[in-house]
Amino acid sequence: MVDTSTPRAYNSWWQARSDAWDRLEEASGQLAEPVLSGQPAGELIETASGLLDALTPVEQYWAFPGPEAHRRIRDLFASASYGRFASLVSRVTRGLVTESYRAGIGWSLADDESETEEAGAGAPGHDRPARPYFEVLFVETLTSGEEQALREEVRSWRRLGDDFAYELVVVASAEEAIIAAWLNANLQACVIGRRFAAAAVHDVSGLTDFRDSRIAGDLAGRGPDERYQVLARRLARLRPELDLYLMTETDIEDIAGHVSHHFRRIFHAREGLLELHRSILTGVAARYRTPFFEALRHYSHQPTGVFHALPISQGNSIVSSHWINDMVGFYGREIFLAETSATGGGLDSLLEPTGPLRQAQRLAADTFGARRTFFVTNGTSTANKIVAQALVAPGDVVLVDRNCHQSHHYGLMLSGAHVVYLNAYPLHEYSMYGAVPMREIKSQLLALRAAGKLDRVKLLMLTNCTFDGVVYDVGRVMEECLAIKPDLVFLWDEAWFAFARFHPVYRPRTAMRAARTLAELLRSPEYLTAYSQQAAALADDDESLLATRLLPDPARARVRVYSTQSTHKTLTSLRQGSMIHVYDQDFAQKVEESFHEAYMTHTSTSPNYQILASLDIGRRQAALEGYELVAKQVESAMRLRDAIDNHPLLAKYMHCLSTAELIPAEFRPSGIDTPLRSGLANMSKAWDVDEFVLDPSRITLYIGLTGIDGATFKREQLMDKFGIQINKTSRNTVLFMTNIGTTRSAVAYLIEVLVKIVRDLEDNATEMSPAQQAAHARAVLKQTAPCAPLPDFSGFHPAFLDRQAGAAADGGEPTPEGDVRRAFFLSYDDTRCEYLQADEVDQRMEAGQPVVSATFVTPYPPGFPVLVPGQLFSEEILEFMHSLDTPEVHGYDPQAGYRVYTGKALEIALEERA
Ligand SMILES: Cc1ncc(COP(=O)(O)O)c(C=O)c1O
Repeated sequence: MVDTSTPRAYNSWWQARSDAWDRLEEASGQLAEPVLSGQPAGELIETASGLLDALTPVEQYWAFPGPEAHRRIRDLFASASYGRFASLVSRVTRGLVTESYRAGIGWSLADDESETEEAGAGAPGHDRPARPYFEVLFVETLTSGEEQALREEVRSWRRLGDDFAYELVVVASAEEAIIAAWLNANLQACVIGRRFAAAAVHDVSGLTDFRDSRIAGDLAGRGPDERYQVLARRLARLRPELDLYLMTETDIEDIAGHVSHHFRRIFHAREGLLELHRSILTGVAARYRTPFFEALRHYSHQPTGVFHALPISQGNSIVSSHWINDMVGFYGREIFLAETSATGGGLDSLLEPTGPLRQAQRLAADTFGARRTFFVTNGTSTANKIVAQALVAPGDVVLVDRNCHQSHHYGLMLSGAHVVYLNAYPLHEYSMYGAVPMREIKSQLLALRAAGKLDRVKLLMLTNCTFDGVVYDVGRVMEECLAIKPDLVFLWDEAWFAFARFHPVYRPRTAMRAARTLAELLRSPEYLTAYSQQAAALADDDESLLATRLLPDPARARVRVYSTQSTHKTLTSLRQGSMIHVYDQDFAQKVEESFHEAYMTHTSTSPNYQILASLDIGRRQAALEGYELVAKQVESAMRLRDAIDNHPLLAKYMHCLSTAELIPAEFRPSGIDTPLRSGLANMSKAWDVDEFVLDPSRITLYIGLTGIDGATFKREQLMDKFGIQINKTSRNTVLFMTNIGTTRSAVAYLIEVLVKIVRDLEDNATEMSPAQQAAHARAVLKQTAPCAPLPDFSGFHPAFLDRQAGAAADGGEPTPEGDVRRAFFLSYDDTRCEYLQADEVDQRMEAGQPVVSATFVTPYPPGFPVLVPGQLFSEEILEFMHSLDTPEVHGYDPQAGYRVYTGKALEIALEERA
């Protein structure tokens, strides 16, 4: 029996569409041979009819098989020509599966197979074409004759030597243009004509999630000039990578002067078609370019003699070796041909790029929405240190999430920052942290203001999104902070968020987009009015400032934003490929020099060219298919959630934590508990207003009821038995991260494995002795009962506090920032340190003596430093450490104990500070 239910489309029709065609192929095949299938024809007809109804409203948004083929399929079905119906459906399905339509050489509707193969479509085993293919959206009201003529004209321009091939998708309304941009990831360009309807012309009732409910209203009553501008803005917000063209018949010279910057070019309808065609190709070619990758490839095929370093260059030291030539067998020759230390000959120097590397970085800046982009070859660990050193001078105050990656702690230590650790909200039940609430950040800034230290506050560093997928409202954080400290600089650690730029719902919460939006906002007259009204009405006391959504003064606020991204974690790049993106209005004036020095400090003089080339080519991929890949990734993650939570056996032992479970209600004014699960429109709503949202591509699986802790589950069940790799675990959770390479088969395998694990648990349960049952019940209780609360940052010892802090001579509150560098380097003198076991620490604290850590102590998981150099021990910290059964604690040797400062060392340090 064929399943007729229309698969659910969460944020993309990709999987739903391909499933529907597969099912239609199966049903139509059985219909053509009802005797063989044994299924009553009535049922099959109903099935096929249901699937055709599901596909009809969406097929018009793709060029293949195209509206004509779809009409033909429906006609064959209606006229009960089931044999020909099945044959055509089968050809279309094969075309979609093999993607042979991407050859872009057209296909024939004739149902003669030989004709089809000649046309290149639907041929089984057809190789993926070398020439990339895309689709172009044409928004214009056309008769079917005009539409046909247009398609034919476009095809007539094709030349064998073209770098790309494309086909058209024609829609007649703004509403359908938006739907097409959502659904059809093949689109790379859009041509907007003068005549198009506002509201959809075809039935779009089944596509509510992808409809822009406001656009028809926004277009009503506007003249043609304004209408295409409105549509262009909407499309650019949804898919900024699309090249937009305007096709008009009147006053083109006049329009050209005030046309929105979103349009790449404007053409006169009667003279511009061939020129438009060329522009479409060059527009895509501009994103396709990979200057450094191409330079390296070119260089690798030049004959060279190597008379300096790098014997591996050209594979020379390997191919003639008797002992290591298997290396070439494994890696292939090309990678060694591309190994060179040359910076000339068409190549470039990473430390002073002037050629292809500079161009590659510029293209990356365009793609990621930055003003400047810098490639980094040692991961975001290095990127973070570069930014910290570039921006922070010794003694500057920096606010940072205590739960941030270790590279920030080391970076701040090296640059001599005085650090205020911010507390993220805790999730005690899962022994995890969320993110830092707005109120906590503002409170710390206001305390620094009260202490008269705001002028020393330089930087706020936050992780967006966190490892577990909690995403900030980046724009709001920056606005409110700038209202208190107008020149504050922001470093958003987006190690896990490079992909987010390529999805319309994620994008506004990325650092670079939020920076641009903020810069535009601060320039707008409406904003100035809103700010002036708030400034006139708002009392300047802490409580009012904390309770109000603050607006920065547009005359004083500077937009100074940095983002560090591990391209290798979420997009295509070799390991360690990262980027620093900059949107800093004061970069040229205040940072350029120090940034260069910091870059030199941390960058090898022999950077790895393969990593750099992979960043360049990974950028090309993101620019051309980022949207498609991310939408598919999110869809796969939602399917995985469904499969786990809807499986009766799995649901007995585990479930995927929802937004409501990971983000407390106080941070979710939308009140939506499961945003994407309840529809894309709800996801957009929550992502518009909530203080924190959850990245749906990450799945935190709660496994408390298995009685197995996260680390053991990862090692013994997932990795050792089934070869499934994951990274993060907590006491009772494991984190599954999907990525742009996650396949449907991989998702299916994971589900299969989870079911096997749970079946094993069930089998074991039936064979347990009473004693074993009691032990299992205890294990389950341990994983599900509350454990020691996660400790907040306890504070620095006064010897490492800022001199003004704590003095409060003017009656102000003391502020908590500590000099981590001083605390860190003090421990280089062995005589100032000693080792204490936990009970000795406890005794000293009970005796009223401060105990101060000389090192970072980081249990993994959860992976944040419970102690930093100079930090005071507390009862909560000891209790938390005691409750952990993780074997890996960096900075702590169970035999020796905790490395702490001696009482004498602290006395001397206090005196020295005074
Ligand atoms: C939040 C965060 N920042 C930075 C890094 C370091 O990134 P990389 O591995 O690219 O050095 C990581 C690594 O896991 C991370 O989780």
